[in-house]
Amino acid sequence: MSDKVRVALVGCGNIGSGGHAPAYARVPGAELVVACDLLPGRAEAVARATGAEPCGSFQEVVARDDVDAVDLCVPTDRHAPLAVEALQAGKHVLCEKPIARTLEEADAMIAAAREAGRVLMVGHVRRFDHRYVAVKGALRAGDVGRPIYIRRAERQWLPVPADVWYWRPEAGGGVIVDIGVHIADMFRWLLEDEPVSVYAVGRQVRQAAREANSFDHALMTFRFAGGAIAVAEASWAYQPSFGRGLYAALDIVGTAGTLHDSDQQANPMLVYDATQGPQLPHYFRFMSTTEHAFQAEIAHFVACVRGEHPPAISPHDARRALEMALAAQRSAETGSVVPL
Ligand SMILES: NC(=O)c1ccc[n+]([C@@H]2O[C@H](COP(=O)([O-])OP(=O)(O)OC[C@H]3O[C@@H](n4cnc5c(N)ncnc54)[C@H](O)[C@@H]3O)[C@@H](O)[C@H]2O)c1
Repeated sequence: MSDKVRVALVGCGNIGSGGHAPAYARVPGAELVVACDLLPGRAEAVARATGAEPCGSFQEVVARDDVDAVDLCVPTDRHAPLAVEALQAGKHVLCEKPIARTLEEADAMIAAAREAGRVLMVGHVRRFDHRYVAVKGALRAGDVGRPIYIRRAERQWLPVPADVWYWRPEAGGGVIVDIGVHIADMFRWLLEDEPVSVYAVGRQVRQAAREANSFDHALMTFRFAGGAIAVAEASWAYQPSFGRGLYAALDIVGTAGTLHDSDQQANPMLVYDATQGPQLPHYFRFMSTTEHAFQAEIAHFVACVRGEHPPAISPHDARRALEMALAAQRSAETGSVVPL
């Protein structure tokens, strides 16, 4: 391997071009060598912005000797086939969340990584967001005692037309899988405990969701083994004018205190330089994550590839988040409590 971990970004859509691509310039141990997309123009646009080489074929990417790792930012149902192919070609894989669309696909990815002896890391980016790292630190320090209740809301207006893959349940799983895995992973990470059951209800609010027969608004209640209750709201049905198009909030009630974090109400950190006034935090359209979180996520992945440590999110963690979200989906479909 060269001095730097040489990465091919595969998928130059929303998160690939807006979240991952710009972060590489700020990760000294990584070099973005290829930007790949099937759609004409997308790879070229990222290539122009980053200095990477544009490419229209995933097969060409995995055949290259000068690519150590692929960063998969493709639609969710494409994660497993591309990850398995890359791992079998000897590449390390950073894959956007959810790990895959189904548990069987997740198992195939985990087996391929084990057989190839390569790193498989799923980008549960909330774990690298400084705001949630601070929350985790406060819990670890015992600031609120033992957490017994968590309420999480991730609300947004999905700004894509009805023919985009997000609306198709077989491609993305609807809001319960797509946003639910973020929340499920956050609950396990913060509580350091395992869920035992989930009860969920879902609604089809927007026309696109009704046409696709996919939930775009859901409420989920997880019970954890240690007794904690974790309640989530995941929605793509809030009007764009609400919370600048996205809004995430977190409440934690513990035996000795409470903690609250909100995109909308918390005082943002303000930065002044010599020429400009305060720069308000910038959030991406589809998520409630700071741009620095992707930089931290990619830096962590690069260190994993270098053998410095295993991924902070194991493939098992990512699979478990998917399992929780799929159980919530089943609950919303059947009206029953689903054991985990
Ligand atoms: N971490 C987060 O907060 C976050 C936010 C948004 C999306 N995501 C996840 O990222 C993934 C991508 O989402 P998106 O919003 O960027 O989707 P998108 O549709 O905007 O972009 C996906 C891109 O992948 C390309 N693509 C598809 N198959 C390909 C192939 N075989 N080879 C090369 N390119 C291919 C498409 O042409 C498209 O440009 C999804 O799994 C989604 O759940 C994560």
